[in-house]
Amino acid sequence: MKKILVLGSGGQIGSELTMRLREVYGGANVVATDLNPERLTKSIQETGPTGKVDACQAQQIAEVVDKYNIDTIYNLVAILSATAEKNPMLGWNVGMGALINCLEISREKKCALFTPSSIGAFGPSTPLDGTPQDTIQRPQTIYGVTKVTGELLSDYYFKRFGVDTRSVRFPGLISYVTPPGGGTTDYAVDIYYAAVKGEDFVCPLKKGTLLDMMYMPDALNAAINIMEADASKLIHRNSFNVTAMHFDPEEIYSEVKKHYPNFKMTYEVEPIKQSIADSWPNWMDDSCARKEWGFKPEYDLPKMTKDMIEKLKIKFGK
Ligand code: NAD
Ligand code: SER
Repeated sequence: MKKILVLGSGGQIGSELTMRLREVYGGANVVATDLNPERLTKSIQETGPTGKVDACQAQQIAEVVDKYNIDTIYNLVAILSATAEKNPMLGWNVGMGALINCLEISREKKCALFTPSSIGAFGPSTPLDGTPQDTIQRPQTIYGVTKVTGELLSDYYFKRFGVDTRSVRFPGLISYVTPPGGGTTDYAVDIYYAAVKGEDFVCPLKKGTLLDMMYMPDALNAAINIMEADASKLIHRNSFNVTAMHFDPEEIYSEVKKHYPNFKMTYEVEPIKQSIADSWPNWMDDSCARKEWGFKPEYDLPKMTKDMIEKLKIKFGK
């Protein structure tokens, strides 16, 4: 049985991935940590070991790895795109600080390492329609620069030291447990919260802005399945394109309106978010992930919308 350390368990992905990992590998085998442990959900606190770890402090990670005999690290620590653009040094220091510590500890203590990359690893000179697995990566955000650097460093540690590094390029993730942490794709979560709460929604991206997206259950499966994949079948490692759907604000708005016909959305474009979104793929080709380790998402826009609304109604007692 794997012994897993999750760094950043309090975030949008960590709050759900930690619980899924505990279902699969057992509560005692998944140690949930965050710089801000007060962010850990009650379910996480009640189902296994937890702790405070600053991933930018190598010693703190190493102590937990030793204490629990950890063999696999899920490094979910980063500052998301829009927030990082407001404070680029923070984006760089947190993203790269956490990653280099994880890589070094994984090398010394022979851990496998998962660190998500992102659609943010691409830029305006990338082919934006059907973005290939292997293509131009010249992002224009600090977030993207950390993601490309992370992909390269992770492949370097695999090739040079044999560290079992694996990763996926997540698109915008949509979920209802923990709100997103300041990304460009957050609008696709916020729109559901507004609709269910009976509020109008102001969209920060303009009509026609296509972006790849995925519902959280598919993202959790991807994060677990890539780490379980047969290494001999992996041609790529850091990092695989994965996507489940792509849409623009009008398409998600129409889908939400099928459930809430009186729901109103207007536009107030936020220039930083718009320029980031314009530089990211309209849709990625994820055939390598499908071929090399069997990636297969289950949720499209209508199925996700139905489930999001049902879950948010329960959350808000509507
Ligand atoms: P998030 O911002 O929701 O959560 C990050 C967590 O890390 C927070 O709980 C925060 O307290 C914690 N943290 C911050 N600094 C830390 C430090 N120094 N040490 C330990 N913990 C620290 O992020 P997320 O959305 O869960 O993203 C997780 C990973 O997935 C990131 O690498 C992100 O770039 C990537 N990703 C996310 C999305 C998405 O849509 N959510 C899409 C693509 C890639
Ligand atoms: N959801 C993330 C962001 O917008 C994509 O990596 O920053």
